[in-house]
Amino acid sequence: MTLDLDRLRAETPGVANRIHLKNAGAGLMPDPVIAAIKDHIDLEAAIGGYEAEDQEAARIEGIYDSIARLIGAGRDEIALVGNATLAWDLAFYAFDFAPGDRILTARAEYAANYIAYLQVAKRTGAVIEAIPDDASGVLDPAALEAMIDDRVKLISISWIPTNGGLVNPAAEVGRVARAHGIPYLLDACQAVGQLPVDVAEIGCNFLSATGRKFLRGPRGTSFLYVRRATLAGLEPPMIDMFGAAWTGPECYVLRDDARRFETWENNYAARLGLGAAADYAMAICIESIQKRAFALAEALRAALRAIPGFALHDLGPKPCAIVSFTVAGIESAAVKARLHAQGVNVSKSRPNSTLLDAQARSLPDLVRASPHYYNSEDEIARAAELIAEIAAE
Ligand SMILES: Cc1ncc(COP(=O)(O)O)c(C=O)c1O
Repeated sequence: MTLDLDRLRAETPGVANRIHLKNAGAGLMPDPVIAAIKDHIDLEAAIGGYEAEDQEAARIEGIYDSIARLIGAGRDEIALVGNATLAWDLAFYAFDFAPGDRILTARAEYAANYIAYLQVAKRTGAVIEAIPDDASGVLDPAALEAMIDDRVKLISISWIPTNGGLVNPAAEVGRVARAHGIPYLLDACQAVGQLPVDVAEIGCNFLSATGRKFLRGPRGTSFLYVRRATLAGLEPPMIDMFGAAWTGPECYVLRDDARRFETWENNYAARLGLGAAADYAMAICIESIQKRAFALAEALRAALRAIPGFALHDLGPKPCAIVSFTVAGIESAAVKARLHAQGVNVSKSRPNSTLLDAQARSLPDLVRASPHYYNSEDEIARAAELIAEIAAE
């Protein structure tokens, strides 16, 4: 399906102000997302917060359907959470680890997740092991298979890391996990909204993702998917009177759906924005989104390769819409600041956001440019031109 770029840009107010190549940080929200948030805030101001929630109850319930459709899950398998780190933590800290239990993870694992492994390892005596990559830098499912034994308690990886274009083989990892009956937690923060996500095909037990990146939802939104069969007997690490009913002085009963991982109070305006973002992406067509976003990233890489002193750091044969690079002799922070001054938004990725990978490859601070389907070819060319100018100074 060909995307109507003019319409998509007309529906994205931010493109009038910036060349936004920062969708791995926070995507620009489109009109329907902005309207969903603002309308609900207006309603809360007009009639009261609880009254607005009651009045919009059907739309608020509909958010679960929207997220479920986005990832091929059931609505009862979705919990809405304030941010993706917390969503991931809620799943991870639900496990009871014992001394010697093995947690297998990716080399390009996200800092927040790895720090949580370290804390749990310190508390319980569990051990953390990174799954080796193949020669191209992609997690190697055969190496994972070779690591499996009775002590592997959890396989937990980032599908797309925070620091570059690498796309790990989420579904192949799922096949290994399922074959051995090992729980599989997938951090899909940088994947959701950028490429199709189907939890049945991936075979994960848990998946966490944020609303604000490639999905183009508001900040402070995320969701946790928990497979229905995994829910039985699963105790969230913390609960309140939303996730469980207080049924007697000595007892409580957990909800029987994934919302046992939620708590009582929520930002319903932001949640409605998240639901609108999922609907918006689905209406456009995620396969077409992926095709165009990946192609724009490739166009940027091609243009940048010509620059003397330029080095690309994306791993794997088919990198995604995250372009990570350095320019010799110029700090990445300075490249970012110079681009910002010219109206171009990019991020800087620090080595300790993916420490194992950064140490293995001796990576410095990287510039991270992450285009999306609503960027234009002209914007990519202009950004490349500016980077060439910065490099030439
Ligand atoms: C791979 C990965 N996982 C998790 C997160 C955390 O998401 P949040 O900031 O919503 O907690 C990020 C954010 O940058 C990320 O890149």
